[in-house]
Amino acid sequence: MYTNIMKTKLLIFGVTGDLSRRKLLPALRTIVSSNLVPELHITGISRRQVDGQQLLTGYPELAPLTDFFTMDMTDPQEFLRLKQQVQLQPDEQLVVYLSVPPKAGTAITNALGEAGLNTPNVKILFEKPFGVDLASAQDMIARAGRYFDEAQLYRIDHYLAKEMAQNIIALRSGNALFSHIWNDSVIDAIDVIASESIDIEGRADFYEQTGALRDLVQGHLMQLLALSLMEIPRDFAWSDVPRLRLQALQQLQPASISTTVRGQYEGYKDEVANPGSQVETFVKVGLHTTDPALKHIAISLVTGKALAEKKTQIRVHLRKKDAKQSGCVIFNIQPDEGIAIELFVKKPGLTREFARHQLSYRYPEQTVLPDAYEQVLVDAIAGHKNLFTSGDEVLESWRILQPLLDGWAQGEGQLVSYAKGTALETL
Ligand code: BG6
Repeated sequence: MYTNIMKTKLLIFGVTGDLSRRKLLPALRTIVSSNLVPELHITGISRRQVDGQQLLTGYPELAPLTDFFTMDMTDPQEFLRLKQQVQLQPDEQLVVYLSVPPKAGTAITNALGEAGLNTPNVKILFEKPFGVDLASAQDMIARAGRYFDEAQLYRIDHYLAKEMAQNIIALRSGNALFSHIWNDSVIDAIDVIASESIDIEGRADFYEQTGALRDLVQGHLMQLLALSLMEIPRDFAWSDVPRLRLQALQQLQPASISTTVRGQYEGYKDEVANPGSQVETFVKVGLHTTDPALKHIAISLVTGKALAEKKTQIRVHLRKKDAKQSGCVIFNIQPDEGIAIELFVKKPGLTREFARHQLSYRYPEQTVLPDAYEQVLVDAIAGHKNLFTSGDEVLESWRILQPLLDGWAQGEGQLVSYAKGTALETL
């Protein structure tokens, strides 16, 4: 348990929504039953009256600490009523989880500020998307900054909270092997890959406005890349990681249409009932950094829906002295969390042939890795910000990708079609 935490009042806007049901309530159940944070009270906020008992079915641990509040989230007066209800004391903190669409989130943040619920003991947790392009992200960040300090804002990228994402830093800083090879005279290429076997799962409206670049690349893959490129923190200082991630992003050159491939799976247009849809369900973006030690590394960020398998990996390809050599270090973010090094080994016996093997580390079978949302909630409550995305990181990421959005909007770049179940490597 974190002992130096104040008593926490957690407000969940959008408590009846999909994210809350799928992720937040299960994560809170674990947090409460494992006694990870002291003195927690939860208020679920919704537009319509909630049947609390029904919503909390399966979460008996949460029932005694939870109440519900119904309000019109567009009415400033209602936030005064909410403030009355919350009765925040100086020795308490208020953690506000915005599990609502971004526009509503910005309006709620503003209304909380206007109602005076923005004292330093108030924190806001935001879900992505953080804007849909550079200009909208700038606007969103500026609006939140009207009433809240950056220190009070927690932008969630659940990929940063994945166990193996955190392990990239541990592996890179804790092992001489990696600190020696982390430069472009040894590393030839880095691929950050998020292959998904699911399709858009009926989320037609959401996906038509989003696409793979905004959905996965702008946040999740860019953050995994930043962890792969950043300087390692001195003295294992995790608190320095956000600054170093930002520095890594600042050194990336803007993406270009000519080094980007985008695709759409067959049947997508029918699924979203838009015969002219140009929205990408697959994208591969080539990038380069200006970091003097890494500038010759060919970087690619690749993601797609309806592919052959679910696999998130960072593949670090080493320069080969001979094309037939093996040379790849694989960080398996999910599933099979761990790390592997590809090696050629002589086949045993009266032969001189080689066989390809992996020298690998996987967490022991019985290890239970925390869900990313448990980590996010516990860290926000404890005030640990290093697994959250800063406003500056968000803006850097959009800066890098904006040329693609601009080019595509003008009809540049081909959209290739692929069959559902295609292997990512073949695209
Ligand atoms: C979400 C995206 O942020 O991440 C989804 O909106 C995607 O489209 C999901 O499927 C993937 O997350 P995970 O943790 O299952 O890899």
